[in-house]
Amino acid sequence: MEKRQELYAGKAKSVHATDDPDRLILTFRDDTSAFDGERMESLARKGMVNNRFNAFIMEKLQEAGIPTHFDRRLSDTESLVKNLEMIPVECVVRNIAAGGLVKRLGVEEGQALEPPTFELFLKNDALHDPMINESLAETFGWATPEQLAEMKALTFRVNEVLKQLFAEGGLLLVDYKLEFGLFKGEIVLGDEFSPDGCRLWDAETREKLDKDRFRQGLGGVIEAYEEVGRRIGIDFD
Ligand SMILES: Nc1ncnc2c1ncn2[C@@H]1O[C@H](COP(=O)(O)OP(=O)(O)O)[C@@H](O)[C@H]1O
Ligand SMILES: [Mg+2]
Repeated sequence: MEKRQELYAGKAKSVHATDDPDRLILTFRDDTSAFDGERMESLARKGMVNNRFNAFIMEKLQEAGIPTHFDRRLSDTESLVKNLEMIPVECVVRNIAAGGLVKRLGVEEGQALEPPTFELFLKNDALHDPMINESLAETFGWATPEQLAEMKALTFRVNEVLKQLFAEGGLLLVDYKLEFGLFKGEIVLGDEFSPDGCRLWDAETREKLDKDRFRQGLGGVIEAYEEVGRRIGIDFD
């Protein structure tokens, strides 16, 4: 697989074309952003840790029958993925109240959410990823009602697989964000699943072991990501 021109450099990853028009290479960088890119820092080892973390999770999801873009890990920081036409809508499921939900609705952090909630956000940094709904997505052509229904169903299937996986490592999957795209007309899970895009708490102490450590300046960010990875069986060596 030949790595060709850079197509896009995002906040945390770079996207390169390959000699196969149906395949892209995602390069996970050490760059870490928060507050829609307002705060940027480089955290040593993050690219490697997130690339391995994502590969492990994507394989678990694939095994559970969830279509993903993931083909294989190419190196410490690179993975080969299907070239998707991304849908600019982020799907968020929450099992426990935290982050934006607490701010928006004034509910108590840590409150169990039963049933888990499902939210849609427009992927647009300049607008700070505003919350949207099915009606707006349909009217503005971001996704069809059928695509949204499929994305929602897949996002909840991911919850069943990953809540269990993290529970076995003594971790609570608090919430997470997924991005989907189209590959030959089919809805496929894209982007990444890593502690950058979800919240994970220790089940006993409720210690935060995800990107909130960076957002809140708690330190030990990558150490926490590696701890989570080790607990679910990832080998970072
Ligand atoms: N399989 C894929 N095909 C095409 N684009 C993808 C795929 N997976 C992820 N992307 C896109 O590549 C970019 C990854 O880089 P990232 O640093 O996360 O960017 P951003 O700052 O836009 O979130 C994202 O915009 C994401 O939507
Ligand atoms: Mg991103």
